[in-house]
Amino acid sequence: MNDTVPGGDLDTPVGVPADLYAAARAAFANAYIPYSHFGVGAALRASDGRVYAGANVENASFGLTRCAEQSAVQAMVSAGAREFTEIVVYTESEEPSSPCGACRQVLAEFAPGASVYLVNHRGAVLHTAVNELLPGAFDAGKLPSRTVK
Ligand code: THU
Repeated sequence: MNDTVPGGDLDTPVGVPADLYAAARAAFANAYIPYSHFGVGAALRASDGRVYAGANVENASFGLTRCAEQSAVQAMVSAGAREFTEIVVYTESEEPSSPCGACRQVLAEFAPGASVYLVNHRGAVLHTAVNELLPGAFDAGKLPSRTVK
């Protein structure tokens, strides 16, 4: 993982794809977070160029909460895309927020090599990759071949 780059404002932080940053912030604004009050917005670029975004969606039954990264992946897959090349995750936390373990596994299912930009409202950026966040991911290659379609 690269070092955090301090500074910045509401402009797109240097090196972060501007369209994904804008889409992640727009999704962040729609986060449903009555319990944690911790919003997350994510936006990814599918391999065909289309952009999909998602926010975290909480539930009174806390375990049913859906993370933003998973919402974005579900939007992509529901629209018929199966791969993405890069994802921006936006939070308004002190430091850019790192995807949880479950999100890492979901991201790895579709894009182990994808670029990941973790960004906060102050313009701090951590640039990493799915396979850096989850080395040795469990994947389809570990399943008997008849299971994989
Ligand atoms: N959250 C995400 O959306 N993505 C993550 O990778 C970590 C956590 C959400 C879930 C919950 O709504 C809130 O952040 C606090 O855990």
